[in-house]
Amino acid sequence: MAEELIIESTATKEERYKSLIPQIEALVTGESDLTANLANIAAALKYGMDFFWVGFYLVKQDEMVLGPFQGPIACTRIAMGKGVCGTTWAEGKTIIVPNVDEFPGHIACSSDSKSEIVLPAFKNGEVALVLDVDSDQLNDFDEMDQLYLEKLMRIIEKML
Ligand code: SME
Repeated sequence: MAEELIIESTATKEERYKSLIPQIEALVTGESDLTANLANIAAALKYGMDFFWVGFYLVKQDEMVLGPFQGPIACTRIAMGKGVCGTTWAEGKTIIVPNVDEFPGHIACSSDSKSEIVLPAFKNGEVALVLDVDSDQLNDFDEMDQLYLEKLMRIIEKML
């Protein structure tokens, strides 16, 4: 396993994703432990993409529980349909929020969080976990983030 990620500091967002996703795939290949893999993915995204907060919420019975993450401490439990993460779980599709203050019921774990993207991963047709990426800038996520992070969710689904 490579011990360092190789990311050009001058690279564009798309170049970073194109370089990072295969490195993440290599990082998790051969390791079967979900917690270990999600922890490394959170770190790879945080440091590879310079995100403010990156983490996973895992579905456990009737709520989601905080999993591996990088960034400031966060709320530990989210009910279905609550906040952006709970809505992503309920709807089973990616949600991009340009301004969290305008999202009804947004759960403010950090007042520094201004925009976010949340993506689901499925097991047997059900949402098993979500990836939550937060920015301290407004309007920081677009279709490009969705495209590449959804590729990552498909990689994650192989280990669920
Ligand atoms: N923003 C999320 C809550 C999780 S924290 O931001 C880490 C939401 O509204 O679902």
